[in-house]
Amino acid sequence: MIEVKNLVKEFSTDNGTLRAIDDVSFKVNKAEVFGIIGLSGAGKSTLVRCINKLEEPTSGEIIIDDVPILELNNEELLKHRKDIGMIFQSFNLFMQKTVYDNIAYPLKIVDTPKDKIKARVEELLKFIDLEDKKDNYPAQLSGGQQQRVAIARAIATNPKILLSDEGTSALDPANTKSILELLKKIVEKYHMTIIMITHQMEVAQDICDRIAVMENGKIIEENTTDELFKNPKHSMTRSFIKNLGSNNSETEVLAKDFDNPIYRLAYLDSNYKEAVLSQCIKKFDVDINLIAGNINRIKDKAVGYLIVEFIGNDTDNAIEYLRSLNVSVEEVKNE
Ligand SMILES: Nc1ncnc2c1ncn2[C@@H]1O[C@H](COP(=O)(O)OP(=O)(O)OP(=O)(O)O)[C@@H](O)[C@H]1O
Ligand SMILES: [Mg+2]
Repeated sequence: MIEVKNLVKEFSTDNGTLRAIDDVSFKVNKAEVFGIIGLSGAGKSTLVRCINKLEEPTSGEIIIDDVPILELNNEELLKHRKDIGMIFQSFNLFMQKTVYDNIAYPLKIVDTPKDKIKARVEELLKFIDLEDKKDNYPAQLSGGQQQRVAIARAIATNPKILLSDEGTSALDPANTKSILELLKKIVEKYHMTIIMITHQMEVAQDICDRIAVMENGKIIEENTTDELFKNPKHSMTRSFIKNLGSNNSETEVLAKDFDNPIYRLAYLDSNYKEAVLSQCIKKFDVDINLIAGNINRIKDKAVGYLIVEFIGNDTDNAIEYLRSLNVSVEEVKNE
């Protein structure tokens, strides 16, 4: 339902032309959550700003539900804007307006009748579970609550698309989780399509159906989330995945399926050598059962992890030995 074709956006700067978006094409289906990840300056914000026409692309096409939005006249464009909601890292609420008035605002500017506004705002307050805060001002809310209000405001007019530019980046893990749950509920209940820009790989993994990786204005890799994590092709993607903690589903192995404790060995830099494990087996009275793993060579370094089961009496010494070689060793416990 969203199709971006050969999109280019150039900025003129003092140092000449800067190509922030360089021939980008992708499609997003209805009620899909599409992630865009990439380093700072990759062009992610510029891309979503082109989609909601805050930025005029230099060339290319953007088609939303069969409408080529770059060809719309001003009046048509206003209508189109209503179809796109957006949330930001910094919430961007109106600080002088109450929660109720923040959510009502986009409905007021399209001249919605008062009773309809009231009904919709009350529905949304319930949906974001903040009915009791409707008369509060944003400064009286936590960050997570403010973002819930920003989301309610963004979806008030029932847009087809919700764009999130680092919408969870300013939140702690608990609030991030609750915002992600809310976004999932939005897809379920309102069948909205979401484009999520995030530098938080765990966020992308949690909520996105598919992910595109951007570098220097280009999409360098795009795949379903599962495939991207299982089989990242580009070194940039691998380095993003490498930065994830051990508690992601890719490494999820059920400890109870094994007779002995299992461990996650992480090779943080060039210390991975197959020899490390065989040395360990030779030196100590242990055997090592390899359960899962993912070791990538990035430039001349190896990064990644192995999930292993130690079998034998000398496990503690073996672990100490590995740690002395700068391998991180953590027991995998999952209740
Ligand atoms: N209005 C502008 N004028 C000139 N250059 C711009 C403008 N907006 C963005 N850029 C440049 O375009 C490139 C892409 O910027 P963009 O904000 O899209 O990156 P980003 O991927 O969102 O980065 P971040 O993760 O830091 O938010 C950068 O080099 C930036 O400096
Ligand atoms: Mg940005």
